[in-house]
Amino acid sequence: MAASPLRGGARTLGGYRPGALTVHRSPAEIGPVSRALRAAGRKIALVPTMGALHEGHRELIRHARRASGAIVPAVSIFVNPLQFGAGEDLERYPRPLEADLEVCREEGVELVFLPGVTDMYPEGADTTVAPGALGDRLEGEVRPGHFAGVLTVVAKLFHIVAPELAFFGEKDYQQLVLVQKMVRDLDFPLSVVGVPTVREPDGLAISSRNAYLSPDERRYAPVLQRALVAGASVSARGSEAVLDAARAVLAEESALQVEYLELTAPELGPAPQTGPARLLAAARLGGTRLLDNVAVRL
Ligand code: PAF
Repeated sequence: MAASPLRGGARTLGGYRPGALTVHRSPAEIGPVSRALRAAGRKIALVPTMGALHEGHRELIRHARRASGAIVPAVSIFVNPLQFGAGEDLERYPRPLEADLEVCREEGVELVFLPGVTDMYPEGADTTVAPGALGDRLEGEVRPGHFAGVLTVVAKLFHIVAPELAFFGEKDYQQLVLVQKMVRDLDFPLSVVGVPTVREPDGLAISSRNAYLSPDERRYAPVLQRALVAGASVSARGSEAVLDAARAVLAEESALQVEYLELTAPELGPAPQTGPARLLAAARLGGTRLLDNVAVRL
């Protein structure tokens, strides 16, 4: 039997061992591994994360592993300061590193990229990716500069890890659309795959920030998804009916302060009269922001 080029060349692959998890802490460490894997015909499938890995991330990793070809499943873990605004939760964002590595091991991840802030943003690095007009709407209106921070780090991760495939959850739908647009507009040589939102049994979209909810807030939180589902259920009656039905459910829960509720085209332009559309909402519940969205067919 012919020896695998990877097994034979393990020493030149920065310690990469098929089937085992290796952690790389800087662009200088992971760059040569990634280049050698590509040269050996392997496809890196990257799940970019900020850690605090949950069932939603596990689902992204499972999709990455199921992709066709000689896949090397990879996860990046980096709490990106550039995408947090003043007064947001950068300092308290959960960082359970050992648990995250255990999740990666359990899910069969082979490469973890775990850089520090100065590895990603060395002194003087102030070039950023501008998201265009869509970056100022919806989430971008509530969190100015957020998507410039997201696209900048994602662009850097794509260059450093050089995946052929990258997986993002539909939970952060505007982020997914903007990353797909950046890849198209700037000719990144990779495919971005969107993965449906993973939900708790009561419908709440799983998010690392759900950990901030008090027990009472946790009970009210699924109202956001119920409102979106109520809207989607009357989609045959047109866009006004969708928005009215969603608003009626949201109005029942005064603890939820709605920041936006919008019906758009799938790419987030104006909603069509008929055909596929997206219903998106964000709301504050105490000190926590909840985001959600569902597909709608008008
Ligand atoms: O969705 C996230 O966790 C982050 O926005 C991402 C894509 C990892 C960029 O920091």
